[in-house]
Amino acid sequence: PKMSQLDPRAHPAVDSTAVFKKDIFKNRVLFCTGGGSGICREMTEAVMRHGADATIVGRNVERLTKAAQELSAATGSTCIAVKADVRDPKQVQAAVQLTIEKYGRIDFVINGAAGNFLAPISGLSENGFRTVIEIDTLGTYYTIKATLPHVRATKGSYIHVSATLHYRGTPYQVHVSAAKAAVDATSAVLAVEEGPHGIRSNVIAPGPIEATEGADRLLPTGREDSWPLPTGRKGESRDVANAAVFLFSDAASFISGQVLVVDGACEHVRGFA
Ligand code: HXC
Repeated sequence: PKMSQLDPRAHPAVDSTAVFKKDIFKNRVLFCTGGGSGICREMTEAVMRHGADATIVGRNVERLTKAAQELSAATGSTCIAVKADVRDPKQVQAAVQLTIEKYGRIDFVINGAAGNFLAPISGLSENGFRTVIEIDTLGTYYTIKATLPHVRATKGSYIHVSATLHYRGTPYQVHVSAAKAAVDATSAVLAVEEGPHGIRSNVIAPGPIEATEGADRLLPTGREDSWPLPTGRKGESRDVANAAVFLFSDAASFISGQVLVVDGACEHVRGFA
């Protein structure tokens, strides 16, 4: 069938609580960078729905505070907002410290804070390239470094939010491609080095997800038709959140060092469809 003829209702996005037990993350604590909005906020909400408390970290304190209040109200778990720029290791360390003072532990870490815009190599400034590397790659490393002793103590788990852009030459995305390739590599090394301490580390690579800042930046209004939709529908933040619930759960206890692409097979589309 033509893609446009596929039935989007065949595989709708569901809520993870319809599949996984509600208390699987009870007494666990999530530390999520970039959790104030978008995909990472949705991931935080899903993990909280299964019983975990959370800290969300970001630069925009108003948005972050509002999100923390809404997430707490929606889930019945506790969420605190901590202002920090992941480009500054001292701010990340302080956010981790506040989390430990509040909850006494960290079980799960989501490295979600990211930066993106479209720019060709010839037009991108040195500072533009460096800025995205600093947020995505260095921010991920600083967060790993600051949380690692605490995640060792709980034999916890990491999820790094990456992308699929760097699997091929995606135009105007050299900064993000370089940054996310480094994130993928970092996760693999973390999985191998820290596996003996009981830590798992995995990457989630979302494809285009509707109603997110990333999609707005990369696929401006009017260009939505360029999205390939092999499953007949667009990805939702909930689809990515459900993958996070699975990867943090004990059902994934032998899964580490992997990249889970959540894109409804978009990445595999080529020609003729
Ligand atoms: C060219 C740009 C630019 C643009 C910024 N720069 N925007 N260059 N085109 N559209 C350049 C600036 O000129 C500057 O270089 C340098 O980048 C830093 O810009 P600032 O605005 O000073 O940085 P800052 O305020 O720290 O903001 C960081 C940012 C911004 C990354 C530039 O976009 C941001 O805060 N983004 C966070 C939210 C976000 O991007 N979310 C989407 C993530 S989606 P000069 O040389 O002038 O000093 C994602 C993957 C999506 O990551 C995958 C979907 C398939």
